Amino acid sequence: MKTVNIAIDGPSGAGKSSISKAVATDLGFIHVDTGAMYRAIGLYALRHECLEPEAIENVIEDITVELKFIGGAQRVMLCGEDVTDYIRSPEVSMAASKVSAVPAVRAHLLDLQKKIAAENNIIMDGRDIGSVVLPHADLKIFLTASAEERASRRYLELREKPNCPTYEEILRDIEQRDYNDMHRAIAPLTKADDAVEVDSTSMGFNEVVERITDLIREVME
Ligand code: DC
Repeated sequence: MKTVNIAIDGPSGAGKSSISKAVATDLGFIHVDTGAMYRAIGLYALRHECLEPEAIENVIEDITVELKFIGGAQRVMLCGEDVTDYIRSPEVSMAASKVSAVPAVRAHLLDLQKKIAAENNIIMDGRDIGSVVLPHADLKIFLTASAEERASRRYLELREKPNCPTYEEILRDIEQRDYNDMHRAIAPLTKADDAVEVDSTSMGFNEVVERITDLIREVME
């Protein structure tokens, strides 16, 4: 059976995951958050002090990352442990950004990502989905928003939590990650030539979900 594959790429904090999740639920698709896979490897690198490229390369073959879908929600397993609840800290974000620049890390996750797409109707989000992982996706979307808007959304999300970083710290972090993701030698964040750009800077959440759901319905007709 031919599966439907939708690629959503874009910078950190553009809302790819929450938007993809909502759209996937509406359409009965599986949402695959590839960033969570890089985060799991980032967590491994922090725990085992192997953040440097050579150090992570030496152990990458021993690291297993699997995805489980429980009630439609993705859980990330790292060497058999469910680490879904430990991968959202700023330390893990930076570690993920670092390890994701290592070719052996990307190669390690690529097969798994392709296999999931071949077997399921999916919305897969990340940085290189339209350009590398699913070059023949049925639809490619590049979801973006200004760095300031992304930082202010993140700040609103975090401000009630203890040790909330300042808006300026969040903005700096986002700009640093954008730079890392766009300037790495392998599979940099880029808009595929045939991707449709959706700039959500002045759009509400539901508006973005509707726009993307409409684009997907068009290609499925
Ligand atoms: O989307 P995210 O913030 O959870 O991603 C975490 C890091 O992983 C981010 O720095 C970019 C990287 N990443 C990547 O290089 N390729 C992907 N397909 C997904 C994420």
